[in-house]
Amino acid sequence: SNPSLLILPGDGIGPEVMAEVRKIIDWFGAKRGLAFDVSEDLVGGSAYDVHGVPLADETMAKAQEADAVLLGAVGGPKYDDLDFSVKPERGLLRLRKEMDLFSNLRPAQCFDALADFSSLKRDIVAGLDIMIVRELTSGVYFGEPRGIFEEGNERVGINTQRYTESEIERVARSAFELAMRRNKKLCSMEKANVMESGILWREVVTRVGKDYPEVQLSHMYADNGAMQLVRAPKQFDVILTDNLFGDLLSDCAAMLTGSLGMLPSASLGAPMANGRPKALYEPVHGSAPDIAGQGKANPIACILSFAMALRYSFDQGAEADRLEAAIEQVLADGVRTGDLLAEEGVAPVSTAQMGDAIVA
Ligand code: NAI
Ligand code: MG
Repeated sequence: SNPSLLILPGDGIGPEVMAEVRKIIDWFGAKRGLAFDVSEDLVGGSAYDVHGVPLADETMAKAQEADAVLLGAVGGPKYDDLDFSVKPERGLLRLRKEMDLFSNLRPAQCFDALADFSSLKRDIVAGLDIMIVRELTSGVYFGEPRGIFEEGNERVGINTQRYTESEIERVARSAFELAMRRNKKLCSMEKANVMESGILWREVVTRVGKDYPEVQLSHMYADNGAMQLVRAPKQFDVILTDNLFGDLLSDCAAMLTGSLGMLPSASLGAPMANGRPKALYEPVHGSAPDIAGQGKANPIACILSFAMALRYSFDQGAEADRLEAAIEQVLADGVRTGDLLAEEGVAPVSTAQMGDAIVA
């Protein structure tokens, strides 16, 4: 049977960008003989409107069964006043939590045609292609004790950075597997100089590295890592880091490359029966209510998220390369959605025109 893909377009520009992904999927079916069992369902506000919850149990069950899930975006002003328990983003959080997606992949890739969009000089970023692997389910955002407590005559706010060996080991393994598929170079970032969790992190990553002797492993303090990312990002290939440092470093790396409309992501969990990890792919951007319904959204972030699914869930690395090359070509030809336009006088293309150009 064909590999299965569950599509959850969501809210705002989610359905608009997902329509362009559907064109790409149809093209792969027609021209490359690559067929998927695609099903579509609701998440976020659109699910709330129908079911009264942002993710129905049936949808959750489908996500657990699928070889991969591709999500558009959730949220919007219409849902801002909903009770916390049914807010659109709770649908996304439920998916991440119940699928136990502990490894968050955030590529920072700079297409040559867009290098002038970066806040950095062209030669520092042109051709950049790095991947940050962020631990997503543990660390200081979840560790206990946490809270605001009375202490003497004042209050104290407490969070705890806590990592077990097995939590470090599983995300490290996913980063090494990724490094094996890329350029066999991995830099792990923590602050072992001042943090106990950092000492353990470095020890466990080094131990896991023994299983991947071909991968060139290095370690760096995360503050230096932030500096190096801006000074000379091309020295890196895969960067592995914890939840907190990964939050900061991945946002920093993302902005090396320009527009939010270009950034894909993947969140991976434990291997399934087919040997591939449980996986949720989604663009980094939100539902962009300011441009929703106007055909202005850039579909590339969502299309690149599908390219990641081809590579990491469907073992179709060459087809993912083909798709990325098409995007590169379209950008080199000067095709631009509004978010990619710097100068006046150039007419932007619509969401659908961008999708059509990539298919062509
Ligand atoms: P946003 O990412 O939706 O938009 C930020 C800015 O970037 C806007 O000006 C928007 O027009 C622009 N933009 C974003 N994606 C674009 C694209 N593909 N093409 C062209 N321009 C694009 O973030 P914002 O405005 O903070 O949040 C809007 C809504 O989205 C909120 O309800 C928020 O909760 C939700 N959200 C959902 C996320 C998700 O589903 N993973 C992530 C972030 C926000
Ligand atoms: Mg962040």
